[in-house]
Amino acid sequence: MAITEIRPGIHYVGVNDRTTTRFEGLWPLPIGVSYNSYLVVGEQVALIDTVEESFGSRLFENIREVIGDRKIDYLVVNHMEPDHSSSIAALRLRYPDLKIVGNAKTLQMIGGYYGIDAGTLEVKEGDTLDLGAGKLLTFHLIPMVHWPETMVTWYAAEGVIFSGDAFGTFGALDGGITDSEVEVDRYWDEMRRYYACIVGKYGAPVQKALQKVGGLEIRTICPTHGPVWQERIGEVVALYDRMSRYEGEPGAVIAYGSMYGNTEQMAERIARELAEQGIRQIRVYNLSYADPSVVLRDVFRYDTLIVGSPTYNGELFPPVEQLLRRIEARCIPQRRFAYFGSFTWAGAAVRRMKEFTERVKWEPVCPPVEMKQGYSTANGEPCRQLAEAVAAAMNGNV
Ligand code: FEO
Repeated sequence: MAITEIRPGIHYVGVNDRTTTRFEGLWPLPIGVSYNSYLVVGEQVALIDTVEESFGSRLFENIREVIGDRKIDYLVVNHMEPDHSSSIAALRLRYPDLKIVGNAKTLQMIGGYYGIDAGTLEVKEGDTLDLGAGKLLTFHLIPMVHWPETMVTWYAAEGVIFSGDAFGTFGALDGGITDSEVEVDRYWDEMRRYYACIVGKYGAPVQKALQKVGGLEIRTICPTHGPVWQERIGEVVALYDRMSRYEGEPGAVIAYGSMYGNTEQMAERIARELAEQGIRQIRVYNLSYADPSVVLRDVFRYDTLIVGSPTYNGELFPPVEQLLRRIEARCIPQRRFAYFGSFTWAGAAVRRMKEFTERVKWEPVCPPVEMKQGYSTANGEPCRQLAEAVAAAMNGNV
């Protein structure tokens, strides 16, 4: 098989991006990201998704390496977000007869983004496209994972699903393409971070999508980002299933803001007491410095969250407010939650966090701790009690 051939007649023609610093202009990419694109070569040739437009020439070169001067007959667009679609206009110029395959929502967006409304083929749920030589593609719509037009393409003969962003992860492909060729362990946290930041709001649509593809005998998952999954499919599907059910594993995130270290000392006291009570998975984040995507990742990962904030201009400390807004926007249905805060002359942070719990309908484990002015050993005792209550809940002792 050619080095790009991941299954007979299916070639990886994607690219790595190690220069973009923030995905969607928001989320850091410490180990890069890949934009995956696949060629299915039968009697006719189909390209499944494209890449971000600044990498278009590499995509075209990768395609030429596989099919030379042969034409591409179809471009299947599983997902219209521009990290996968912004090479479409240039691709059309190189392959003017290429038919663009997408559902009604996809084709509307292609018209809106790229002014292309001819040479398209609309598909609906369950429709098929026969490339000849036994290569039959079937389309399944999985709306809102995480855009309304998202769909997957199923190639039954090889048990391959081209899954769009589903089962994707941050992290470039450093040589290997399939999971048997890469060091898989470096991708799990990046998969969690990708899910929490990009897809996290859409747990219910992801669950629907998992049910829809659950009946398929999948032997290879070809996502739009990260490794092609073959040997570790069970783990990948289980991780996406758990995250989309918002199911945390045992562990506590303590996320706090602090201007002069007093609220920070409350967080330290709480963390120490949790450890004293036998909790081993504890992640403490100073929100002025921690990468928000890493904090969100761990809020998705763990079942317990403790948040602390000083009062700032009569409100929450801004990085704390931002975290709570991001959690709220992702509709996380529950976490074991506790909170603490501080003020100098008039308290507001604790009141704002109480309002947060009411909006998201989370029942706090125990009453909050509110501290006036500086931290002291005496002020540490209510923090210890808060941690004791949280640990008792985590240990199943209440
Ligand atoms: Fe990778 Fe939703 O685009």
